[in-house]
Amino acid sequence: MIPDDVVEEVRARADIVGVIGEFVQLRKAGREFRGLSPFKKEKTPSFYVIPAKAFFHDFSSGESGDVFSFLMKHRGMSFVDAVKHVGARSGVDVREVRTGRGRDDPWRPYHEASEYAASFFRERLWEWEGGEPARAYLEGRGIGREAGERFGLGYAPDEWGAFREAASVHGLDEGMLLELGLLKRSEKGGEPYDAFRNRVIFPIESVTGRVLAFGGRLLGEAGKGSPKYLNSPESPIFHKGEVLYGLSWARNRIRRDASVLVVEGFMDVVSLAAVEIRNVVAPLGTALTESHARLLKPYATQVRLLFDSDPAGQKATFRAADTLLREGLHPAVVTLPDGEDPDSVARSGGAKAVRGFVEQAMDVLDRKIAMLEERGYFESNLKRIRARDKLLPTLRAARDPSLRDIYVTRVAELTGVRTETLLEELKVAPAPLRGGRAGPPRRRRPAPRLHGHGEERTLLLLLVQDRGWIDKAVERVGPSDLEDAAYRVIFEALAADPELLAMPDDAMPEAVRRFERLMADPETLASPAQVFADAVARIEANRIDRRLEVIEREIRRAGTGEQVRLVRDKERLMQEKRALSDDGRRSARKLLALGRTREQGDDAE
Ligand code: UTP
Ligand code: MN
Repeated sequence: MIPDDVVEEVRARADIVGVIGEFVQLRKAGREFRGLSPFKKEKTPSFYVIPAKAFFHDFSSGESGDVFSFLMKHRGMSFVDAVKHVGARSGVDVREVRTGRGRDDPWRPYHEASEYAASFFRERLWEWEGGEPARAYLEGRGIGREAGERFGLGYAPDEWGAFREAASVHGLDEGMLLELGLLKRSEKGGEPYDAFRNRVIFPIESVTGRVLAFGGRLLGEAGKGSPKYLNSPESPIFHKGEVLYGLSWARNRIRRDASVLVVEGFMDVVSLAAVEIRNVVAPLGTALTESHARLLKPYATQVRLLFDSDPAGQKATFRAADTLLREGLHPAVVTLPDGEDPDSVARSGGAKAVRGFVEQAMDVLDRKIAMLEERGYFESNLKRIRARDKLLPTLRAARDPSLRDIYVTRVAELTGVRTETLLEELKVAPAPLRGGRAGPPRRRRPAPRLHGHGEERTLLLLLVQDRGWIDKAVERVGPSDLEDAAYRVIFEALAADPELLAMPDDAMPEAVRRFERLMADPETLASPAQVFADAVARIEANRIDRRLEVIEREIRRAGTGEQVRLVRDKERLMQEKRALSDDGRRSARKLLALGRTREQGDDAE
């Protein structure tokens, strides 16, 4: 058995076109994808996948359904295997899925403890005398009881052991509470104490509304050792790069509006909700990751970014935009007056003021162009070429083919570079490898597979030593392609902040340790381009291996007829893998030939 909400989460995150596209060659046709029926022989395509509805329909055989029923009908998988198959491709923790299969979800106690903590904090906010300062604080920020309750807000008392005591009476295991970051232990050991003190508590929920972690806003002044906002650390149930604050509540509205507003913080989400703007989410003090983008994908194509307007915020905006573009979404940028954030605008001008700014959102490419124009980038031919270099990464990131066409045309008009030339230039950087890539079989032996996570470590070592490779790595590898959780966390952190010198204190401890080790590693990588190409090729090969494992299992269970087809699929995957190691060599040569001089920065700065 897989718990219902895990199934829901997998369904919500599934990229139905990607999953079905592994078995059926699909072409985009308007908002749909079309291909030859996998169920019945035919010459003209009448098999449709409709991503907006997460649905497929085959007119020739009459079969239809969601991503799971496709796998069950076409691959003969059981429901459980179908969920696992899709889960592995959607960044939903496979452990959770796999273990959810047993009698009980092993993380259930963690969820229950988190629910208990949420109710403890809630009670302290609304029903407890000592909660008065927190209630007054929220009131002062325009958040009444209704909005507060909607988000399950709470208050952590200004005491060292209030929660610990209550949790112990409730019979909760201290080791688990330490793991969840609700309790802490000082360096020297000693008694555990409450991690959240004198803070307004924002429970952080999964898409399906389970409490995973907490954010806490300090009531008093921030200072050394007590930051303004404190978040739970990574834990078995919380991976902050994969959670968007507010999504569980906002998702219906986002779907209805087909548009989402991404803001920076908890307060922005809650105070916009307080003025009835509901299609709002926030990442948790990190940059927007690929997983975040995938979370949004089932609900909306249009994403409006509403970050701070300072230089750091601008940089974060353009990074986030490229990540969104790579996932086929359409980002636009909302600009607020200097020094304002969504919360302050909502407070002073209400929903109307916020909407006024949101309506002025500019497509990200247009925003970049406007910035370049302000700086006189289109005044001479030489500068126009520079401008083109600045815009290329955005063009390259745009995965949606129609958006990409529009972008190419626009940049061609502006810079006077022919569209053909631009398209050629777009090919220079290695395109991300995704989905079935057929090709003639090659004889070369595959690169030997390293054991453990050697290739993941090597790639990260390169990225740490030479930050220029980070963007290229992000183009080829998604965090979910890394098998090792700590390396995954490090990869995401580097993608978010290429200048990163230390992992944040609240990151997964193993990731903090490994990052330090990488930073201290004296090994010099002799041929970076080769190292890069090899490591990426191996990581991609590992992804294929995971798929092969699934097929192999199916082969053992299938009937003879089905087996023939599965073996063919297996062959195809193995070819793909071989092609990959050849590709790796070729792109290494190309990168070497290009040298490292080609500028590939991805912000308009
Ligand atoms: P801001 O400092 O912009 O906070 O941080 P804010 O939302 O305007 O907060 P108020 O209005 O002062 O209450 C934005 C986000 O950055 C993360 C949090 O997720 C916060 O919501 N952050 C900020 C931290 O994680 N730690 C900090 O110390 C500060
Ligand atoms: Mn603020």
